Amino acid sequence: MPLSKQKISFDHSTMVLVRRLVREGMRPYLGKVVLAVVCMVVGAAANAGYALLMDPVVNKIFTERQPEFLLPLGLAVLGTFALKSACNYGEAVLLSKVGLRVIADMQSRLFAHLMRLDVAFFHSNSTGRILSRMTNDISQMRFAVSDALTGAGKDASSLVFLVGAMFYQDWRLSLWTFFVFPLAILPIAKLGRRMRKVTDNTQEHLGQLTTYLEQAIQGIRVVKAYGMENYEKAKVGSLVETLQDLTYKAARVRAASSPIMELLGGVAITVVILYGGSRVIGGETTPGAFFSFITALMLAYRPLKSLASLNTNLQAGLAAAARTFAVLDAPPVIQDRSGAADLVVLEGNVRLEGVFFTYDGSRSVLDGIDLAVPGGKTVALVGASGAGKSTVLNLLPRFYDVTDGHVLIDGQDVRDVSMASLRSKIALVSQEITLFDDTIRANIAYGRFGASDEEIETAARLAAAHDFIVSLPEGYATVVGERGLNLSGGQRQRLAIARAMLKNAPILLLDEATSALDTESERQVQVALDHLMKGRTTIVIAHRLSTVVNADLIHVLDRGRVIESGDHATLIAQDGIYARLYAMQFADEPVAAASGP
Ligand SMILES: Nc1ncnc2c1ncn2[C@@H]1O[C@H](COP(=O)(O)OP(=O)(O)OP(=O)(O)O)[C@@H](O)[C@H]1O
Ligand SMILES: [Mg+2]
Repeated sequence: MPLSKQKISFDHSTMVLVRRLVREGMRPYLGKVVLAVVCMVVGAAANAGYALLMDPVVNKIFTERQPEFLLPLGLAVLGTFALKSACNYGEAVLLSKVGLRVIADMQSRLFAHLMRLDVAFFHSNSTGRILSRMTNDISQMRFAVSDALTGAGKDASSLVFLVGAMFYQDWRLSLWTFFVFPLAILPIAKLGRRMRKVTDNTQEHLGQLTTYLEQAIQGIRVVKAYGMENYEKAKVGSLVETLQDLTYKAARVRAASSPIMELLGGVAITVVILYGGSRVIGGETTPGAFFSFITALMLAYRPLKSLASLNTNLQAGLAAAARTFAVLDAPPVIQDRSGAADLVVLEGNVRLEGVFFTYDGSRSVLDGIDLAVPGGKTVALVGASGAGKSTVLNLLPRFYDVTDGHVLIDGQDVRDVSMASLRSKIALVSQEITLFDDTIRANIAYGRFGASDEEIETAARLAAAHDFIVSLPEGYATVVGERGLNLSGGQRQRLAIARAMLKNAPILLLDEATSALDTESERQVQVALDHLMKGRTTIVIAHRLSTVVNADLIHVLDRGRVIESGDHATLIAQDGIYARLYAMQFADEPVAAASGP
């Protein structure tokens, strides 16, 4: 009897997914699951017991009218119901708990994995898509897992016992009845497959919607300044339409599965009444056996129906699971080599030797670059936009790995040392400043977790940020808002510098923001930077003339190679590329020129 199997279309990937969910998700809760299964089986047996009791009820009480059976049979019926209710409760509570735990574990695991993934992963996957995995897909899985767990097992075991009772009462009639059921398998399996396709599509679009929304909201000033509200509205509007189409399609698929079952149920009952009735009339079976049979059939109807609709929900959940597993299976490429030693920084010399690098596997961004940064010195990288300056900085903390060549810190290849030690020795102030929606104190403390309030304040003072911080209404406890929007550009920069200051790492990477600061902020940021750079190996991508002029060494980058090196005076004297760049980029910069340390 294929009844308990008919709910799932048994294609390979479904089984693989289910097995994986069970293996990776439910194993820790095996005890609860076993207990729930016991409840399930006992409850299902009680249910079938009730159907079987209909036989003596009809024959002894109604046909033979024997009064001594009245009370015992009544109590027996009550007993089966009491047992069934207790078991259903136990099972539902246990399995909801397991289902919710499985999903919560999955969510934590997914986030932990995301945190391990490379920077490149986040470049090639939109934020919306990633967020969608964490939220939409997980809740879809929650629905399916808890539904599947609480529903499927109970319904399936009920069916097994009820069908058993039917065969026990009248096997010929049972065979007739179940002749119709195989017919149900085909349309239902087909509906399940369609459901999965629809939800796959839906999730993809939902991810896109999240991305669109996020961009429109984050970029609201650009949208307004360029009068692009209608464009954004149309973009989001058409996506919303597509989504409603897809959701409607899913609703239709779901709606179709229930009437199909209803109709099949009607056909089965008709067959039973016609054939079974003729057998009772012909004296081949008793009315009691017949009613017992029909009770079991009626009781079987509900679990069968919910198993049918379960498939569609399950498919939606499995599609979500497949997408979630796809993220979980994306391996972090950049990992510690086994037995990697800790990085030891003595002088802090940094060297790039014959480094080739490409982001996309085809276009070379760094083209055999050789570059030396003497320990404790400040080296400026200058060059046209897109020359590869930020890329050089990305290679040091191993946000990306070189395609060829070596990045060495005091003679140790960054790929040979542990990433934790490597990153603990490098402080980075990047081109785009990231602040978290948290207090100023917490944002600075990001530089060194667990730093004391005094240490945070010292860092803020050195970064010329203390004064503006204490003038804020809540001082260090002021929440900076999403991406630090409540602060000015210069204030954000100084917080980022304070964060790096607190980290107190021997190697400092500065991707100076191009954002034009007013002269006063500029001066304050410069003071902060001078403090920060003192005594550290500093690689700075210079957009400020003063930084360039005061650097110990300047490397000029062009299309992924170093084309000139030397200090400011030497390079100006050479009258080469740098001299020209200087004339174009910096010459009209008025004040900051000679304000060196
Ligand atoms: N994540 C990425 N994926 C693919 N290509 C990238 C990525 N980041 C940068 N690039 C490409 O690499 C090249 C070098 O970029 P990089 O950011 O290093 O330039 P830059 O010298 O820092 O420029 P800028 O002065 O404008 O900041 C550019 O042509 C850019 O298009
Ligand atoms: Mg850059």
